[in-house]
Amino acid sequence: MADLDDIRDGKEYGLGVSQKTEGYFLKGSGNLDWGMKDRLSRIFNPTTGKTVMLAFDHGFLMGPTSGVERIDLSIVPLIEHADCLMCTRGVLRSLIPTTSRKPVCLRADAGTTILTEMNDNVVLDPVDAVRLNASAIAVMVAIGDPNMEARTVANLYNAVDDGLEFGLPVMGVTAVGKDMARDARYFGMAARVCAENGANIVKTYYTEGFEKVVACCPVPIVIAGGKKLPELEALELAYNAIQSGASGVDMGRNVFQSESPAAMIQAVGAVVHKGMKPQDAFQLFNELKNR
Ligand code: 5RP
Repeated sequence: MADLDDIRDGKEYGLGVSQKTEGYFLKGSGNLDWGMKDRLSRIFNPTTGKTVMLAFDHGFLMGPTSGVERIDLSIVPLIEHADCLMCTRGVLRSLIPTTSRKPVCLRADAGTTILTEMNDNVVLDPVDAVRLNASAIAVMVAIGDPNMEARTVANLYNAVDDGLEFGLPVMGVTAVGKDMARDARYFGMAARVCAENGANIVKTYYTEGFEKVVACCPVPIVIAGGKKLPELEALELAYNAIQSGASGVDMGRNVFQSESPAAMIQAVGAVVHKGMKPQDAFQLFNELKNR
């Protein structure tokens, strides 16, 4: 018990100075609870409002695809340049150093590989996400897929219930079925459906007219990079998405399949956080690559 013989009366009451009421920097997140906001501000930089998520969860779907065969060799050296790591629990436990001090967006679904048709996904137990100190969980949603839509929207809905219980933000990941048009109308609808079902972040793809996708989605959007592009094109993609209002990227192949992944993630970071123009970011990429 604290000493009782020297209890000093408080005197610094700041009378006449109103207590500051902080707003919250992230779109649509102002009414969330403290734990949610704390986790979101680990993922999104509170100064820029943006994030560079490094996605390397591809193995759960594709196996050891190019760039993620040896995560210890290819991905771990990039961690210092990422704002957030997106991966599965298996890779997190087996390969990611516990001293990384980076927020993790944990892939929470399973049950699908590229060898089969898309099938019912199983959502990770949120207790395991908490055990792993995840800052968010990611759940795939297949809008427009006649077999999968209802089940995956229910998965997202249930994950949001779990997330609310544990203070864990949920990222809705929009999967694009083979028959879907990859346009602003489709992505706008898919993003909005995720948000309406409670997603705190939406991951989708950049397309022409993206500002409309962002405008009608009440929570932050990050874009996936998609298949490997030449570096300048990937930087243009990131730039266009950010200029259209995206809150960041969740990029995998365009980083880890780059000829210089460390240079690429830093160039992407300059586009995302500093609004660097693609040509300048490409020059930065080349400088860093040749260093
Ligand atoms: C793989 C994913 C990836 O996380 C996502 O597509 C981002 O990676 P990339 O930039 O390579 O598209 O969901 O299942």
